[in-house]
Amino acid sequence: MLAVEHVWKRFRLGAFGRAEKVAVADVSFGLAPGEVLSIIGESGSGKSTIGRMVLRLLPVSEGRITVDGTDISSWRGGELKEYYRRVQGVFQDPFSTYNPVFRADRVFSMVRGQYFRRLPTAEWDTRVERALADVRLDPRQVLGKYPHQLSGGQLQRMLIARALLLEVQLLVADEIISMLDASTRIDVLNLLADLKAKGLGVLFVTHDLALGNYISERTMIMHLGRVVELGPTDRVLGNPQHPYSRRLVASVPRLDRKWSDEPDEGGHAPDGCPVHAAAAPESRALVEIEPGHLVGCFASPDAGCPAGAA
Ligand SMILES: Nc1ncnc2c1ncn2[C@@H]1O[C@H](COP(=O)(O)OP(=O)(O)OP(=O)(O)O)[C@@H](O)[C@H]1O
Ligand SMILES: [Mg+2]
Repeated sequence: MLAVEHVWKRFRLGAFGRAEKVAVADVSFGLAPGEVLSIIGESGSGKSTIGRMVLRLLPVSEGRITVDGTDISSWRGGELKEYYRRVQGVFQDPFSTYNPVFRADRVFSMVRGQYFRRLPTAEWDTRVERALADVRLDPRQVLGKYPHQLSGGQLQRMLIARALLLEVQLLVADEIISMLDASTRIDVLNLLADLKAKGLGVLFVTHDLALGNYISERTMIMHLGRVVELGPTDRVLGNPQHPYSRRLVASVPRLDRKWSDEPDEGGHAPDGCPVHAAAAPESRALVEIEPGHLVGCFASPDAGCPAGAA
C-alpha cells in the first residue's frame, strides 16, 4: 500500500540557505495493509520527518512516496482531501494540533464539514460518541471543552478518535503512547491491534523498544537519518546485527540484570564494514542477511563506507 523509495530530506539552514541539514538519507521501506512498522531511533534521527513527509506536511527533497502505486506529491485539491480521508497522523505533541481559541471538538466538526456534510446530525453524533468510546473517552467530559481544559492524553485520544471517524487505512502514530497513563496506554494499544486486524496499516514511531516489540511485525532502526536495520521485529530486536542496533537493544534496562553486567558493545563501529565488504563498491544499500532482514552500512555517514571508499 505505502512505498517509500530512496527518500531524502534536506533542510536549508540559515538566512541564505547555503548550509543544509540532511534529516533523512536514502530511506526505503514498504507498509502493507494490516501491518505495523515500528520506526525506532534516538532523538533527531529523522523519524518524525519521515512521518511528516508521508502525511504530505513536508515535501521530499529526493526520491518518492507512493500509495497504491501513485506518487503522493502529484495530488492536489480534491485528491489530497481524499488522501487525508485514508491517511491520518497523530503526533507526539497534541497541543500543537489544536487552536486554543476554539473548543477542542472543533477537530470533529471540521471533519464533518469536509467529508460528511450530508449526514444527519443524529447519525453524526452517534458516530462521534462511538469513536470516543473506542478511545475510552466519555463524551460528557470532553465535548464542549477548550484545549486548556483537557489533558494531553485526552487531546491525543481525541485525535485518534478523529482518525477513526474517517476511513483511515494508514495511521502515522508519532510517539502517541508517551502522553498516556499506563491503563489508557493498554487501551490504545489494544485499539490499534483491533484496527490492524481490520486492515489498518500503522507507522508506529517510538523511542520505546518494548512497545515496538509488543505491537509491530516489522521494525526499522534509524540513526542519523539513515536506516541501519530493517526487518521482522523478532529478528531485528532478537538478533540485531548493526553495531548501533546492538547498542540500542543492549541499553534497554533489564530487571534481571545489574548495570555492571551489561555487555559492553564498545560504543563505536568496527574499522571495517562487514556488510559492505562483499557488496558493490559505491553501494551503501542495505544488504539482506536473512529473508526480509536488511542491514545497513556499519560506517558513519561522514566516514563513508571503507568498503566503498574506492
Ligand atoms: N524544519 C526543520 N528545519 C531544519 N531542521 C529540521 C527541521 N525539522 C527537523 N529538523 C532536523 O532534522 C533532524 C530530524 O528531526 P526529526 O524531528 O525527524 O527527529 P526525530 O527522530 O523525530 O526526533 P525525536 O525523537 O526527538 O522526535 C533533526 O536534527 C532536526 O533538528
Ligand atoms: Mg519526532
